[in-house]
Amino acid sequence: MAKSRTTFLCRECGGVHPKWIGRCPDCGAWDSLESFREPATGETAGTIAGVAMGGGEVPGLGSGMAGGAVPLTEIEQLEIPRIPSGLGELDRVLGGGFVPGSAILLGGEPGIGKSTVLLQATASVVRGGGRVLYASSEESPQQIRLRADRLLGEGLPGGANLFLQADTSLVRIVDEIRKVKPTVVVVDSIQMVHRVDLDAPPGSTTQIRRCCHDLVQAAKFSGAAIVIVGHVTKEGQLAGPKLLEHVVDAVLAFEGDRDHGHRVLRAAKNRFGSTQEIGLFEMTDGGLRELDESGLAIDSSGSGLPGSVLTATIAGSRCLPVEIQALTATGFLGSAKRRATGLDSSRLAMLIAVLEKHGGQRLADQDIFAAVAGGARVVEPAADLAIALAIAGAHHGRALPAGTVAIGEIGLTGEIRGVHHLEQRMRELARRGARHALVPDGIATSLVIPGIEVSRISSLGAAMSHLS
Ligand code: TYD
Ligand code: MG
Repeated sequence: MAKSRTTFLCRECGGVHPKWIGRCPDCGAWDSLESFREPATGETAGTIAGVAMGGGEVPGLGSGMAGGAVPLTEIEQLEIPRIPSGLGELDRVLGGGFVPGSAILLGGEPGIGKSTVLLQATASVVRGGGRVLYASSEESPQQIRLRADRLLGEGLPGGANLFLQADTSLVRIVDEIRKVKPTVVVVDSIQMVHRVDLDAPPGSTTQIRRCCHDLVQAAKFSGAAIVIVGHVTKEGQLAGPKLLEHVVDAVLAFEGDRDHGHRVLRAAKNRFGSTQEIGLFEMTDGGLRELDESGLAIDSSGSGLPGSVLTATIAGSRCLPVEIQALTATGFLGSAKRRATGLDSSRLAMLIAVLEKHGGQRLADQDIFAAVAGGARVVEPAADLAIALAIAGAHHGRALPAGTVAIGEIGLTGEIRGVHHLEQRMRELARRGARHALVPDGIATSLVIPGIEVSRISSLGAAMSHLS
């Protein structure tokens, strides 16, 4: 009888070594070798996923990884089929729906609505004739059923094709994928799933990484789209962070403020679509409701208040109006607080410095709080002008006239720089009732948008003269 052999496999680079050594000679990673039993001849090789699946691969996704090099032109073009999720906003971020055989990591803070969005999406998949395996390591099938009844109403059409499994064992989940032959699998969440043969507790890096890797293999071998849920820490890091990102095909982040209804879905990585698109949802009593831009309660015509400035931000193919708010309060010189919510804090620090240097403001002893109203997030320099005017306005108790919006990037010399998609932003704001816009000088001088008066400004000082 052929004997199996134990070798050591590097977790980082996959290099195989006959002996355990502290540092992988191939990639230089420390303590990355794990023992691995090489199957004897006749046994099926591979990870547990490979064994469980019996080796059938999805054409174009799983295979083609091994073998010689082929000229690009000789590679057959692959038509990527999609499984629509039934949620237009989710499909938009995915790039058209779930791709069979792909693995998607969905991250977000606990309680943000990951399980809810996936339950709603999988319900549409079964309604469309697909089969779904929902493996939950956090909730019991009864709890999920309860939520499904509440969200989707009893007697969900196609509900017999929605399989629930409450398990934390990766091997049993993969085994179930083989039996159920689903088109979409949800693993909620990866933090609780583990392999008993690994000498590490559930939730540890070793477990998360290995289980994620096995699930990716399972996706490729079974042809199912696997959605892996991961909780993120307060710092916004996926627990077991970067190490999962390169293993999966797409990384989606579900964000929002738990105290507000709005949720934003973004792609941090997407092998099958753009990472620019965002999906907008609102959490209601009946689950997540999809929003379009007009669902955001921003009215550009409102009366100007000191510390509040409206602008518009571009995300993928859509333009969102947002309200920037700021507050200043006397603090201690040398240890004044600066807090950004939904904004980049280093950008805020830079804008405060520019306001001091080129805007004639004395802010050194001021606590400054700047936020995007409603829990949204804006990381675009095009919001600079609005942030600066909100801070200056809050500091002096002055506001822009009613119906006035501000768009522009601020440079370190205090100049107002052009932004892309200016016309699209102004049209959107005009549609919401804006009547006057402060925009960067120099670009698109011929830009005329009906109903909105345009003031072209070249410096921070000129912009501040509009505060009254
Ligand atoms: P959940 O999807 O369980 O979050 P996650 O899986 O990301 O941890 O959602 C939890 C929150 O959503 C919970 O605090 C209650 C709220 N919620 C609603 O407001 N309406 C609903 O219909 C559902 C299902 C949840
Ligand atoms: Mg959950």
